[in-house]
Amino acid sequence: MLFKQQVWLRQKLLVLGSLAVGSLLYLVARVGSLDRLQPICPVESRFGGAHNQAELPLRALQFKRGLLHEFRKGNSSKEQVHLHDLVQQLPKAIIIGVRKGGTRALLEMLNLHPAVVKASQEIHFFDNDENYAKGIEWYRKKMPFSYPQQITIEKSPAYFITEEVPERIYKMNSSIKLLIIVREPTTRAISDYTQVLEGKERKNKTYYKFEKLAIDPNTCEVNTKYKAVRTSIYTKHLERWLKYFPIEQFHIVDGDRLITEPLPELQLVEKFLNLPPRISQYNLYFNATRGFYCLRFNIIFNKCLAGSKGRIHPEVDPSVITKLRKFFHPFNQKFYQITGRTLNWP
Ligand code: A3P
Repeated sequence: MLFKQQVWLRQKLLVLGSLAVGSLLYLVARVGSLDRLQPICPVESRFGGAHNQAELPLRALQFKRGLLHEFRKGNSSKEQVHLHDLVQQLPKAIIIGVRKGGTRALLEMLNLHPAVVKASQEIHFFDNDENYAKGIEWYRKKMPFSYPQQITIEKSPAYFITEEVPERIYKMNSSIKLLIIVREPTTRAISDYTQVLEGKERKNKTYYKFEKLAIDPNTCEVNTKYKAVRTSIYTKHLERWLKYFPIEQFHIVDGDRLITEPLPELQLVEKFLNLPPRISQYNLYFNATRGFYCLRFNIIFNKCLAGSKGRIHPEVDPSVITKLRKFFHPFNQKFYQITGRTLNWP
C-alpha cells in the first residue's frame, strides 16, 4: 500500500515538474521575443506622408512574421485585414542591384527591422515590359500587407542594369530611396558566372570556362560583350540612373563587408532610411557550417540563407583575374568619386 502511494506521489511530482519546466521554457521564449516588443520611436522620415510622426505599433517580430505571412499567402479575410489596419503599400525603398552583390542577404537582414516589411519575391515590375504594362495597381497588389507606419522594400537586381527602369521608377516615385549593394567587380563577375554554370549543369549542359567568356580570344583583351563583365562596370549603370535621381537618393552597401561584418553595414542602411536603430548583434550570428552570418529573430526562430547563396566558385586563372582587376580599376575610381564611398578594391 505504502509502495503504491509512493509511486503515485512520484508520478504526480513528475507531472508537476514537467509542467513547471514547460512554463519556464515558454516564459524564456516570450522574453526572447519581448525585446522586439519595445515601442519604436517615431520614424521622422524624409519619405513624407501622413504617418510620419505616428508610433509604430507594438508588435513582436514573431507576430509580424506569422501574421503578415498568413496575409501574404491569402489566408485572411477582408475583416481581418481591416481589423489589423493592414495595407499593401508601394515600396519606399528598392534594392535595385547588383546581381550577386548580396541582394537577398541585404533584404532578409533589413527585414529583421520591425518597421520594414519585405516583398519576398523579386517582382520584376520595372524591367519586364509585360509586367509593367499591367500597371502600378498590379505592382501594389504584389506587395505584402503591412501597417501604414511600416515601409515596404522590394529587390529586383535586374533593375540596376535595365535601360528603361530609372525613368519608370521615377514616374512612380521621384523621391524613392535606392539601395545598391556591390562587391569587388571581378569576384561578382565570377559569382555571376558560377550561378549560370550551375543552371547549365543542372540541365546536363556543358558550358565554357570563365576565362574563355571573360577574355576575347582574338584580342586577348577583356570581353566587354560578356554580360557578367558589363554588369560589374557599376559606374556606367549608375550614370544612367543619375539622369533621373540625385546621388543623395542612393545608398551604396559594401557587399563584401556585409558577408564578414553585417551589422555596421545594416546600421548605415537604417540611418539612410531614417529608421530608428533596431537591428542588433543579437539578430546576426555566425554559422561556421555555412560560413556566413545567419539571422536570429528570437530564441526560437532563426534562419540561414538558402544553399544557392554562397556557392563555391571555380578556380580562375590568376592572370585573367589580374587582367580583369586592371580593367575595372578606372571604373571603380569613378564609382568611388561619384558615390563618395571608397571601397578597397584592388
Ligand atoms: P556567392 O554565391 O558568390 O558566394 P545575391 O543574393 O545578390 O544573388 O548575392 C549572393 C551572394 O550573397 C553570395 O554570393 C554570398 O556571398 C552573398 N552573401 C552575403 N551575405 C550572405 C549570407 N549571410 N548568407 C549567404 N550569402 C551571403
